[in-house]
Amino acid sequence: MVLVLLKDVWKSYNGNYVLRGINLVVNEGDVVGIVGRSGSGKTTLVKLVGLLERADRGELVVLGRDSKVLTDSEASSLRLKELGIIPQTFNLIPHLTALENITLPLYLRRYYF
Ligand SMILES: Nc1ncnc2c1ncn2[C@@H]1O[C@H](COP(=O)(O)OP(=O)(O)O)[C@@H](O)[C@H]1O
Ligand SMILES: [Mg+2]
Repeated sequence: MVLVLLKDVWKSYNGNYVLRGINLVVNEGDVVGIVGRSGSGKTTLVKLVGLLERADRGELVVLGRDSKVLTDSEASSLRLKELGIIPQTFNLIPHLTALENITLPLYLRRYYF
């Protein structure tokens, strides 16, 4: 099963292109590392695949869903249920315990334990 598919994906910030025609296929079971110098666009790529940013053009399919037709709310729901991202800065919520931070997505999905 194809988990992530990018075809000729372009992304700019303020008119400066960060990603220029990226192609990538990630299949189920793949472990993929993206290596590049600081500022080369690794985090931007992760944000696109994590549906946190929109591509300027190109095709981006995540878990069989075409990112172009996903509403923000559908993208949020997919992130909550199917995608996990650990950012460079952990972005933990300081007044919650470690367990509460980890289980917050379950709470948002109405799992109580
Ligand atoms: N939100 C943003 N607004 C403007 N420029 C950005 C933004 N995010 C990233 N950039 C720029 O895009 C380029 C790639 O950044 P990034 O994807 O963070 O690279 P990496 O993760 O490989 O270090 C850098 O030049 C960075 O300054
Ligand atoms: Mg980065």
